[in-house]
Amino acid sequence: MSFLPAPLTCGAVLLTLAAAPGLADTPVDLEKGRVIFNETAAPNCGICHTLADAGSQGAVGPNLDELKPDAEKIRAAVVSGVGVMPPFEDSLSAAQIDTVVNYVAAVVGNPAATAEEAQATPAAETTEEQDPAQTADVQDAAPTEADAMAESDAGSDALAALTDEDREILAMGDAEAGEKVFRKCKSCHTVEKGGADRVGPRLYGIVGDTVARAEGFKYSRPMSAIEGDWTPAFLAEFLADPRGTIKGTKMGFAGLRKEQDRADVIAYLDAHSDAPLASAE
Ligand code: HEC
Ligand code: HEC
Repeated sequence: MSFLPAPLTCGAVLLTLAAAPGLADTPVDLEKGRVIFNETAAPNCGICHTLADAGSQGAVGPNLDELKPDAEKIRAAVVSGVGVMPPFEDSLSAAQIDTVVNYVAAVVGNPAATAEEAQATPAAETTEEQDPAQTADVQDAAPTEADAMAESDAGSDALAALTDEDREILAMGDAEAGEKVFRKCKSCHTVEKGGADRVGPRLYGIVGDTVARAEGFKYSRPMSAIEGDWTPAFLAEFLADPRGTIKGTKMGFAGLRKEQDRADVIAYLDAHSDAPLASAE
């Protein structure tokens, strides 16, 4: 099974969404959109708006994840301003406005854009930007992932598929030390049984479970496209460098540099499960 199976899932996610109302005839570029949203626009959009993909929590204006404005609405607001939101017509170039409009429309999942994507022609797909580094990264992860792929959720099936690397990581980790490491994750994630989604999805039982499994959580397209499980090895790789491992992920976290910290937090996550892999070893 291919690791990133769908044609629209490559990290850079450049799609032509020309026909949707209000969407400019330029490809959606999530990276550039994020920069304009968070940095270029003056004042930047994030100080006033919450948008999970951009990692912003502004509360002066509406929460864009909840409002889910379509491209037409976003364009009107950005060009002319609305209420205390200033117009950006003079401070952003037309191309920057196109980019930020398409970006917000894409990450809030506005229906017009989604419908367009579903119908994206093969020709449009070939305009996706291939990022060789990303492809290589994902392929590095793939064999482990494929080896460890289990049909069901965490538990004995996944255990049977643990690789030596997975076992080493589990053996190296200390759940108690991992509790401290998890402080870095807490602002965005819960780990208790029955815990809610925050900026990031709930993590109870995540070790060995399916990637992007939290019903109702709005994952980025690159993350939801992954078919596979969070084996200890794949988790370790992701936590070392989230954005390098899954290009386009909306997890706004730089990564854990120390191997021991990664093993410890994985042990801590594994302990928060109905079927910890380590204790079943
Ligand atoms: C100074 C704070 C501020 C900044 C900066 C700001 N906004 Fe807003 N925005 C608001 C407020 C407040 C509203 C609600 C206005 C109202 O309904 O009266 C709003 C409304 C919106 C809406 C909804 C419009 C509608 O018709 O419902 C969108 C979309 C939007 N902003 C996008 C953006 C984008 C994109 C940027 C950056 C280019 C941005 N905003 C920058 C404060 C801001
Ligand atoms: C700033 C917020 C933030 C921080 C800090 C953060 N995460 Fe995340 N995390 C997210 C978001 C958002 C996602 C969803 C990513 C996506 O959809 O691309 C995510 C996804 C994940 C996933 C995938 C879950 C699934 O359902 O597939 C794991 C595992 C994870 N994070 C673990 C961690 C750990 C462990 C830490 C701390 C070392 C951490 N995260 C820190 C926001 C955060």
